[in-house]
Amino acid sequence: MLASEFLEKFWDNEKFQIFAFDKKELDITKFSEIEKKVFVVQPDIILNFSAYTNVDDAEDIWEWLNFAVNFDGVENLAKISWKNKIDFITISTDFVFDWENENWYSEKDFPNPTNQYWFAKFLWEKSAKEFNENSIIIRTSWLYWWWKKFKNFVNTMLNLWEKLEKWELKKLKIIADQFWNPTYCWDLADWIFKVLENIEKYRWKIFHFSNEISDKNNKKISWFDFAEEIFLQSWKKIWENVWNIKKISVSEYKRKARTPKFSILKNNSEIKIWDWKIWLKKYFEKIL
Ligand SMILES: NC(=O)c1ccc[n+]([C@@H]2O[C@H](COP(=O)([O-])OP(=O)(O)OC[C@H]3O[C@@H](n4cnc5c(N)ncnc54)[C@H](OP(=O)(O)O)[C@@H]3O)[C@@H](O)[C@H]2O)c1
Repeated sequence: MLASEFLEKFWDNEKFQIFAFDKKELDITKFSEIEKKVFVVQPDIILNFSAYTNVDDAEDIWEWLNFAVNFDGVENLAKISWKNKIDFITISTDFVFDWENENWYSEKDFPNPTNQYWFAKFLWEKSAKEFNENSIIIRTSWLYWWWKKFKNFVNTMLNLWEKLEKWELKKLKIIADQFWNPTYCWDLADWIFKVLENIEKYRWKIFHFSNEISDKNNKKISWFDFAEEIFLQSWKKIWENVWNIKKISVSEYKRKARTPKFSILKNNSEIKIWDWKIWLKKYFEKIL
């Protein structure tokens, strides 16, 4: 999702020549494949968007792909980029944190992964730094993008609205006590490009990047808050129906992976990021 957004925006940029590879063309778990590509392309920067992202399946003990891609794959990229003096940027997640902190997590907070996906991502961050000390790690959360091919919360809500008859919205249950910040890929892609342009300034660093929550009275966005805003902004909100959507607790939603109750990222102070509602508006301006 993020890779597609980045390529759509910047493929034709005038500053960098971009070479992009999907999994079929370059499997990051294969050290020699990466070495060969690096030899052919001779890049100045490796920007890694690839990941194993199935949080629930990662819980299965036989799901070795989670560690193969999210840990070994990143270790390969870090080692090769260091050896060849190439800058290395990789994307991580708010899920490296637990749910103890009810305010937000800054870059200074220490990760405490509590399930398999986070644990692999935590090791990923460690190996990125261990094997290429110049690595730049960008942690983000709750991505969405306009293309319906990609599974994300905004698309899921819009699809549900289309599928369900209005009276059936009563059946919809949305978690109201789990909080994180939504992030529109468009905004993050722009910022990643800024990092590329000023790479010397950003080497070594870990950054938090997610859409800002600027409402002083409500610093937390739950799934329910986000859904409500999606219905409101997409003009699908008919009050009596939305009131019928049932709020549930995260403990009532059965899934294999335990996801954090609070994983709100405090953004890096060097970055100016707009409010999540403004980005949602921009999203709807694009798709409606
Ligand atoms: N989505 C979110 O809400 C979210 C939140 C926080 C952080 N992030 C992080 O942001 C980054 C991008 O996420 P995303 O949502 O854009 O992910 P995505 O849509 O799932 O894309 C990941 C890509 O990696 C590819 N891939 C998987 N294994 C690979 C391998 N061995 N070698 C090369 N490529 C491989 C996948 O290919 P196939 O599809 O063919 O398997 C897919 O194209 C990830 O690091 C993710 O952890 C995402």
